[in-house]
Amino acid sequence: MTAQLSKKGEAWSARFAEPVSDLVKRYTASVFFDKRLAAFDIAGSLAHAEMLAHQHIISQEDHAEIRRGMAQITSEIEGGQFEWQLDLEDVHLNIEKRLTELVGDAGKRLHTGRSRNDQVATDIRLFMRAAIDDISGLLRDLRLALVDLAEQHAGTIMPGFTHMQVAQPITFGHHMLAYVEMFGRDAERMADCRKRVNRLPLGAAALAGTTFPIDRLRVATTLGFEDVCHNSLDAVSDRDFAIEFCAAAALVMTHVSRMSEELVIWMSPRVGFIDIADRFCTGSSIMPQKKNPDVPELARGKTGRVNGHLIALLTLMKGQPLAYNKDNQEDKEPLFDTVDTVVDTLRIFADMAGGITVKPEAMRAAALQGYATATDLADYLVKKGLPFRDAHEAVARAVRHCVDHGCDLSEMSLGDLQAFSALITDDVFAVLTLEGSVAARDHIGGTAPNQVRAAIARLRSQLA
Ligand code: ARG
Repeated sequence: MTAQLSKKGEAWSARFAEPVSDLVKRYTASVFFDKRLAAFDIAGSLAHAEMLAHQHIISQEDHAEIRRGMAQITSEIEGGQFEWQLDLEDVHLNIEKRLTELVGDAGKRLHTGRSRNDQVATDIRLFMRAAIDDISGLLRDLRLALVDLAEQHAGTIMPGFTHMQVAQPITFGHHMLAYVEMFGRDAERMADCRKRVNRLPLGAAALAGTTFPIDRLRVATTLGFEDVCHNSLDAVSDRDFAIEFCAAAALVMTHVSRMSEELVIWMSPRVGFIDIADRFCTGSSIMPQKKNPDVPELARGKTGRVNGHLIALLTLMKGQPLAYNKDNQEDKEPLFDTVDTVVDTLRIFADMAGGITVKPEAMRAAALQGYATATDLADYLVKKGLPFRDAHEAVARAVRHCVDHGCDLSEMSLGDLQAFSALITDDVFAVLTLEGSVAARDHIGGTAPNQVRAAIARLRSQLA
């Protein structure tokens, strides 16, 4: 029987009487996706081995051999010569087996005081810490690109919408800065999540800790963790940090998706507010005239898979008793895909922001339709002493008149306007212009061009 044992069976010793079927082997293996963790697995192993040697749990010679073997394995992996074996189940056993081939008994001693349970939790945390750092840098790039765009258009007037109806005039710069705020909160969430990612599980071993005199703080320092996980059961089973990350990533994609929706609408020929550089668009195989905003559409679509990964991880955890369960192996593919999707999307969007051509004339024409300055007229009457509700009523009647006569408020004569309120005098026309309307919203967070420029200055110093 022993002769029939798979290599996988050998990895767990002689406990098993029969080999697993090929299907079970494939079903339980993770190497084809978790090999992506190899560099982190090796970094974790090297820190663990250094601590074991320092604590005299293994000899200095063994430590040197482990380092030599791991250097060789690293170059084999980087050079694409490393032979990943399904039989060896996962990244951890593949590397350990190769290490033992290369350095013999020293390789077999590496796993002293450790389990794959605390090992994999460490690997994922290292992976996620690096991913969060990448994403934080990309969020910054995107925010800077949007600030640049906002600066070019701090005074470009467009209609602001509520309920997709023209509401009040705003500037395009102000509109872009709304997204800069959203992506700023995303960066804060990533930074906050990083604190809980950056704690060391190693030392928890399988679940209960280890009988060896380990020094967990030493390993934590070597690997740049801010703290250790303080309960061994929690250390091997906790995936909160991955869920938090996916929730933060889902919000990043939600913001990207909202922006995408606007870009698609704005690029529609019926709206025509913007054009997006050709390199982010594709044509149609049948309609020669088409130029489709594929990148924003795809980003909007990809938001769905990231939301799905969040739900997958929440569901993965909800029924798990303490401590480690193999269910946790299912955390990796959703996490990897979330990172890849967010990284690619942010990279493309930062580039695409520089490829947006704004069409101020179309925006202005749209802002002139829909009585966008009606609130300004009401505010004007309030400043002349009318209670706001009465002012609202008077302007509503004036708008109704305009609708019936097919004109804009600013096109009415003073006499016609005075029919709706005797408080109106010829200074009214200044407040009915688009420029007057945006300039008047002159306070922190308002759309006045000088406020937009002040916000840009604040953001630039924040992002510096
Ligand atoms: N491949 C496993 C995972 O991703 C590693 C830990 C396996 N531990 C175990 N006791 N089977 O979670």
